[in-house]
Amino acid sequence: MKNVLEIKNVSKKIGKRQILDNLSLDVREGEIFGFVGPNGAGKTTLIKVMLGLYKPNKGSISIAGFDIKDDFEKAMDEVGAIIENPEMYGYLSGKDNLKLYARMDPNNDYEYQKEVIESVKLGSRINNKVRTYSLGMRQRLGIAQALISKPKLLVLDEPTNGLDPLGIKELRDLLKKISKEKNIAVFISSHILSEIELMCDRIAIIDNGKILEVKDMHDKNDTESLRVSFEVDEVNKAKEVLKANNKEVKIIENGIEVFVTREEVPDINLLLVKENIKVYEINIEHKTLEDEFIEKTKGTKGQIK
Ligand SMILES: Nc1ncnc2c1ncn2[C@@H]1O[C@H](COP(=O)(O)OP(=O)(O)OP(=O)(O)O)[C@@H](O)[C@H]1O
Ligand SMILES: [Mg+2]
Repeated sequence: MKNVLEIKNVSKKIGKRQILDNLSLDVREGEIFGFVGPNGAGKTTLIKVMLGLYKPNKGSISIAGFDIKDDFEKAMDEVGAIIENPEMYGYLSGKDNLKLYARMDPNNDYEYQKEVIESVKLGSRINNKVRTYSLGMRQRLGIAQALISKPKLLVLDEPTNGLDPLGIKELRDLLKKISKEKNIAVFISSHILSEIELMCDRIAIIDNGKILEVKDMHDKNDTESLRVSFEVDEVNKAKEVLKANNKEVKIIENGIEVFVTREEVPDINLLLVKENIKVYEINIEHKTLEDEFIEKTKGTKGQIK
């Protein structure tokens, strides 16, 4: 798979402060890449460097193969972005705002533009003046604006700000759809992991200007031991059955608890069911990415540096 974005050893100092510290990462064609870190970690700063709004002190960035130092305009032609609040003309309708942006695109593709407008689901409100829009409606229009020139890379800085839960879900579905159907890579930043982990192919965790980890969300770890509880009617019998099969069992409220791999869960269930033990519920305690994120960034202890 081709890389659409390549960031190599980028550092950025503002005043005396090292905001980005030798940061490298790649984003591939058509993938949704999450950029996650606590407030003040450096997410917006990296995005500003990517878009040429800040100059890095060190390192290089290329977009769709164009180095942003040598071929800035060509690189920018391949990017659609929203940073903080998207700029709109309040006295024009949403649709007219989009038309203005679309006009800047030399390869006008009206079918595509219509599709983009429909995909952000503003309905008939697309014909109302933008100054009458709510925050979430502006965000949706901003996404349409970023998409309208058919970028290879879509960069979104905290796009879920101000969206309601349904809006967040719809944004998730929209981004998944466009990334897969149009092969657009999406680089999306957030400080709320649980909101974006569901849609990302890969995630980078940033803290204090450094990448702590890049994680592939499709990798399932099948050898990890998980805490699994079974809610059963006959607790003692269940314990005996599993002990006879060499499992360490602990009795808990309403059932038993074992430490096993994901693969072993159906086997244990079968052992219980074969002995006529009723299994009402099986709970696997997942170490969420949120837990991992907090663990990894706990150096910061919620303190903004
Ligand atoms: N123009 C500036 N002058 C001085 N410091 C700055 C400037 N821009 C950013 N910083 C500092 O750089 C650090 C990273 O800021 P940045 O906006 O990149 O964080 P962020 O990860 O986007 O955080 P958030 O989740 O709050 O949006 C912060 O400590 C911030 O104060
Ligand atoms: Mg930010």
